[in-house]
Amino acid sequence: MSDRYRQLLDATLQHVEGLKARGVRHLAVTPETLRALARPPSAAPKVSAAPLKPLGQVRPPATKSVPMPEIPLAAAAARSPAEKVAAYAALRERALACVRCPQLAASRQQVVFGAGSLEASILFVGEAPGAEEETQGEPFVGEAGQLFTKILQAAGLSRAEVYITTLLKCRPAMPGSSADNRKPTPEETAACLPYLYEQIDLIRPQVIVALGATAVEGLLGKTAPISKLRGQWQSHRGTPLMPTYHPAYLLRNPSLQEKRKVWEDLLQVMEKVGMPISDKQRGFFLKA
Ligand code: URA
Repeated sequence: MSDRYRQLLDATLQHVEGLKARGVRHLAVTPETLRALARPPSAAPKVSAAPLKPLGQVRPPATKSVPMPEIPLAAAAARSPAEKVAAYAALRERALACVRCPQLAASRQQVVFGAGSLEASILFVGEAPGAEEETQGEPFVGEAGQLFTKILQAAGLSRAEVYITTLLKCRPAMPGSSADNRKPTPEETAACLPYLYEQIDLIRPQVIVALGATAVEGLLGKTAPISKLRGQWQSHRGTPLMPTYHPAYLLRNPSLQEKRKVWEDLLQVMEKVGMPISDKQRGFFLKA
């Protein structure tokens, strides 16, 4: 059994165990998924054939798909707001105590789980908390986060009315260095992904926005360059997903042209969730 297959299997089992612990007894599974599950691992061709590369090194020339476990959105009946709050608190508690990645559990100051509304229509997913996020215990509050907050404000959104989280809930710090994060490893991603799946299943947003290539790869298994994927609707277990650049990319490339690309992606998201868009908003970041 390949490492890749084992990682996906572990992530799937953790996710299903999490659902079971929450009392879910039925899962909607497509006939194709059932057929794939019935096959022995060695016959699950693409899953075992495509080891997930360290994300920073992934530079394939064209769109390539790494099959992900097709776990449909949890079939649990939509919860009442009170049930959601309780289930969210239980999930958060589990994540805060998580030791699935012993190194990260030992090095972290705290787990950065997510922030915002459980009733959010839009759920944003970044890569992993940085130093500032780890200190404050909230995603996207560092330099890139402040730019992200301004982009939200330009769309007429507050942080409190969307939901913001990251693929990894612990900072993938570099031992002995206070410098930037390193990329999450495939093992860390596989270990943390079930928490994100459960957040999505609980909140049931109308749209997911994946900020940057790492979030896209984690959620879709696609390793195509983000420059190719951005702006094109994808689907994460039935929920429309818009890939766009990470705000840190805009800090490195602050041209009007690149900002406009992110803005156009966000305009599509606003349209999808039925937000009103003014003429002024439509013209943001266009050359004079
Ligand atoms: N980058 C991310 O992806 N998330 C954060 O919270 C901060 C930086």
